[in-house]
Amino acid sequence: MQAKDSSALSTAHALPSYLNSDHLGPWGIYLQQVDRVTPYLGSLARWVETLKRPKRILIVDVPIEMDDGRIAHFEGYRVQHNLSRGPGKGGVRFHQDVTLSEVMALSAWMSIKNAAVNVPYGGAKGGIRVDPRQLSKAELERLTRRYTSEIGLLIGPTKDIPAPDVNTNGQVMAWMMDTYSMNTGATATGVVTGKPVDLGGSLGRVEATGRGVFTVGVEAAKLTGLNVQGARVAVQGFGNVGGTAGKLFADAGAKVVAVQDHTGTIQNANGLDVTALLEHVGNTGGVGGFAGAEAMDAAAFWGVDCDILIPAALEGQITKENAGQIKAKLVIEGANGPTTPEADDILSEKGVLVLPDVIANAGGVTVSYFEWVQDFSSFFWTEDEINARLVRIMQEAFAGVWAVAQEHKVTLRTATFIVACKRILHAREARGLYP
Ligand SMILES: NC(=O)c1ccc[n+]([C@@H]2O[C@H](COP(=O)([O-])OP(=O)(O)OC[C@H]3O[C@@H](n4cnc5c(N)ncnc54)[C@H](O)[C@@H]3O)[C@@H](O)[C@H]2O)c1
Repeated sequence: MQAKDSSALSTAHALPSYLNSDHLGPWGIYLQQVDRVTPYLGSLARWVETLKRPKRILIVDVPIEMDDGRIAHFEGYRVQHNLSRGPGKGGVRFHQDVTLSEVMALSAWMSIKNAAVNVPYGGAKGGIRVDPRQLSKAELERLTRRYTSEIGLLIGPTKDIPAPDVNTNGQVMAWMMDTYSMNTGATATGVVTGKPVDLGGSLGRVEATGRGVFTVGVEAAKLTGLNVQGARVAVQGFGNVGGTAGKLFADAGAKVVAVQDHTGTIQNANGLDVTALLEHVGNTGGVGGFAGAEAMDAAAFWGVDCDILIPAALEGQITKENAGQIKAKLVIEGANGPTTPEADDILSEKGVLVLPDVIANAGGVTVSYFEWVQDFSSFFWTEDEINARLVRIMQEAFAGVWAVAQEHKVTLRTATFIVACKRILHAREARGLYP
């Protein structure tokens, strides 16, 4: 037998051939985050390459007939980043700018997030490149059903469990559940979470992510001596996450002084009437034109006078261009990946405490986990039980991350990655490589 050429057996190929090293996008940000944490992994660092390549990627063509008879094709994805700790778990995003790199990064952040709050899942994510606002309801249903059939190879209650993300909701989850159930011949409520409550959904799921954002925000405020009562809060994105978080902060006595979404940027230094604003968003689709506030320049939003800033829209919003203007003492990442690594460094140098997405917005997946457990046992809990369990998990996870940050003198993001990567790689090592 010929001796093997050792150079051909190199173990470090961080970039798969389907990525362009000049345009890594969000996946590049995730890789930098893993590199930062590797020195803290001890002997588990031997397995770190596992985290730098998704386990499975499925790219699907989603053809549908439009209402006017045309045939349209959309690009869809499902990425399972890591399944060492359990089945894949992660949302489905419908957005015209979704890319494979973005879905890969979001799937990896789900692996980290699920491990950080210690729910028994791996990380996954899906998406379709589509602006759903351009589709009729019937077109959206056909798109969702065809996409669900196409990714049916990968998903299932014990394999990979999708959930809502940007521009998907309980109705989309109901169509996904029905399509999967029709294809497999049995009603499978546990195949997706974030379903309507009368279809096996969980009480408290809609507000769960915002409630988790609020919970970790309150914990961080206690630890840093910031009084939530009277604190000034600015929120970007006033949808599911930002709207709920804003409401809970306002109910706790904070003042929501500025809000930005895709329809405009508004401010009121005396505090917005959040209940009225939520009603306005429900009626008009956005915060623009709200009577109880002044419109302001979009770019000026980042420099607004506030104590707490909650980015809860899309990724890549806090950049090296605007991070220097931020006046908040506390940034709570409701969105996934809203802060670029350069901006993270600027905020850290300024002494701004950033509660990273991978812990701050984990409330959604935590209640999704409760929903999945309830579906399996067909036994449903009260909203109070759900909220109490959610708050306990978020508080415990946050306290653990805080302790690691103090021990290693690192940011909360690096600390969360340390906790999560160790859990994932420990599972990887204990399971061993097959065959
Ligand atoms: N929904 C969940 O349970 C959940 C869980 C974890 C993380 N997240 C993350 O939170 C973020 C928001 O998700 P959501 O479920 O609230 O979505 P959503 O669709 O309910 O709301 C999105 C909000 O972002 C705003 N927005 C969109 N484009 C914008 C732009 N260019 N500038 C300013 N605002 C813009 C929209 O106007 C809307 O207010 C996403 O990053 C998502 O991945 C959501």
